[in-house]
Amino acid sequence: MDKKLICYFSASGVTKNTSEKLASLVNGNLFEIKPVKEYTARDLDWQDKNSRSSLEMADSSSRPEIKVKLNDIENYDTVFIGYPIWWGLAPRIINTFIENTKLENKKIYLFATSGGSGIEMSINNLKNEYPSLNIISGKRLSGNITNDEINSWLGK
Ligand SMILES: Cc1cc2nc3c(=O)[nH]c(=O)nc-3n(C[C@H](O)[C@H](O)[C@H](O)COP(=O)(O)O)c2cc1C
Repeated sequence: MDKKLICYFSASGVTKNTSEKLASLVNGNLFEIKPVKEYTARDLDWQDKNSRSSLEMADSSSRPEIKVKLNDIENYDTVFIGYPIWWGLAPRIINTFIENTKLENKKIYLFATSGGSGIEMSINNLKNEYPSLNIISGKRLSGNITNDEINSWLGK
């Protein structure tokens, strides 16, 4: 059996909720990518050019630290990585996660929640940044995902 892990970062709970639903639909385990320093409402203020999220997203080398290391990745064949779209992209903590996790030889699926923007730019960026990874596809998901939606995405 193909063992699946759903890894996600969620600053305000939307991606967490979607990740939990996805995990139950695909019968996978969950891993939360938790920042050492949690994001406050002020950190997430995208209208403030000096807020933490604005500064991180303006700096492509920013790598926010992760609190808990994932150390059983070898047990999985398929890894889903989920995040909220920030300025069209994956938050920089996703780069921290990818660079600290042995994802080579895994089948990788990306997913995101957003206020409306698509996931495509973030997929293209991550594929360019990590050309050795087997990123199969990605999908923007809502809070009401269905079995049919997930099966057609995964090609079942
Ligand atoms: C800093 C920041 C930037 C965002 N940028 C975008 C964006 O470019 N496009 C979009 O549709 N939504 C954007 N959003 C909205 C989030 O993607 C959306 O609310 C998401 O579902 C939040 O997920 P979470 O609760 O798991 O953190 C942004 C939110 C934040 C905090």
